Amino acid sequence: MDSLALYIHWPFCLAKCPYCDFNSHVRDRVDQAAFAAALRAELAHEAARAGRRPLSSIFFGGGTPSLMEPATVAALIEDAARLFDMALDIEITLEANPTSVEAAKLRAFRGAGVNRVSLGVQALSESALAFLGRKHDSRDAIAALDLARNTFPRVSFDLIYARPGQAEAEWRAELRQALALAADHLSLYQLTIEPGTQFATLHARGAFRLPEGDEAAILSEATAEEAARFGLLRYEISNYAKPGAESRHNLAYWRYGDYLGIGAGAHQRLTLGGAVLAARRHRAPEEWLSRVQRHGHAIVEEEALSPRDRARESLLMGLRLAEGVDPARIEARSGLPFAACVDGGALDRLIEEDLMAWRGDRLAATPAGLLRLDAILPVLVQ
Ligand SMILES: C[S@@+](CC[C@H](N)C(=O)[O-])C[C@H]1O[C@@H](n2cnc3c(N)ncnc32)[C@H](O)[C@@H]1O
Ligand code: SF4
Repeated sequence: MDSLALYIHWPFCLAKCPYCDFNSHVRDRVDQAAFAAALRAELAHEAARAGRRPLSSIFFGGGTPSLMEPATVAALIEDAARLFDMALDIEITLEANPTSVEAAKLRAFRGAGVNRVSLGVQALSESALAFLGRKHDSRDAIAALDLARNTFPRVSFDLIYARPGQAEAEWRAELRQALALAADHLSLYQLTIEPGTQFATLHARGAFRLPEGDEAAILSEATAEEAARFGLLRYEISNYAKPGAESRHNLAYWRYGDYLGIGAGAHQRLTLGGAVLAARRHRAPEEWLSRVQRHGHAIVEEEALSPRDRARESLLMGLRLAEGVDPARIEARSGLPFAACVDGGALDRLIEEDLMAWRGDRLAATPAGLLRLDAILPVLVQ
């Protein structure tokens, strides 16, 4: 039976960063015990539906899951071990912010069973950290990274680049500093302006401009070049790893495997009786909590995906990967012939322009294609 990935969402943060549109909320007080009980209830509810399956990864994301009580993380991992057949080499990741308070909890998270940490470093320059509204400085980030590397077998961290006025040479220097600190995995995101964020308002007012077009492409190419020098390869648009150190949990999404998503606003894809069920939970933390307390879950929307939706989703996810997609897998997952899933004329043109290529049996974006994926996908995927 296909293995499952499990995502657990913690929807709270100490402050809302001006660029972030994740489902994260700031509260004076959080009833940790009530949220812990509800997460455990929702997990039990989904496990009863999914049945006993192999479990290959768990990911505590947010929000800021390093604000969770380590005992809650431990209880959820124990529940998962009881409810599923946990792989011996299961990957259990927790996203942590590098403030000193959260760094102090890292050992307790390790004790709870977490074996991979993903630190939200975001930048190594003080002015960039201030612009991004972060609550840590670069010394905090480096100290948290040191501690994380001494505590966890696997460590990754996030940086945000293509910031206003960021020159290529400056970014290369910052990235080299980061790569020297990095272990074997990095997530490097281009800053995007998300609707409804504080940055969206400021950007619309002309308070700053972002590198665009060629400027952004130069920064992105520089990113891949510097990472490769340190042996980290771009395996997904924004993710770099030494071979074998890729995030197994995120690979499960991109390879269009089944995943459970519990917690406020979490998404889920679950194959049951031949149907792929797409579910979404209530986004507001308090409403999510009260629904779980009343019904055992807070699913607000669930639908069986049509063959076309399944084909589209698996292509949109899979083409983000350097390894691309296996048409036989898309056909098996969607029930449609591959030729019906893509625009053949567009594919021929993209191959001619060296933006897409066949690698053996797989279809993948070339490095130049990965840079333009946002423009390619709408014309290619039917
Ligand atoms: C769930 S979020 C953050 C987890 C954690 N709370 C933190 O702040 O480090 C995952 C990552 O998405 C990235 N991110 C969020 N919003 C972004 C944006 N507008 N542009 C680029 N990257 C973004 C950040 O690098 C962030 O670490
Ligand atoms: S970037 Fe992280 S800390 Fe900042 S608001 Fe988003 S989830 Fe919270």
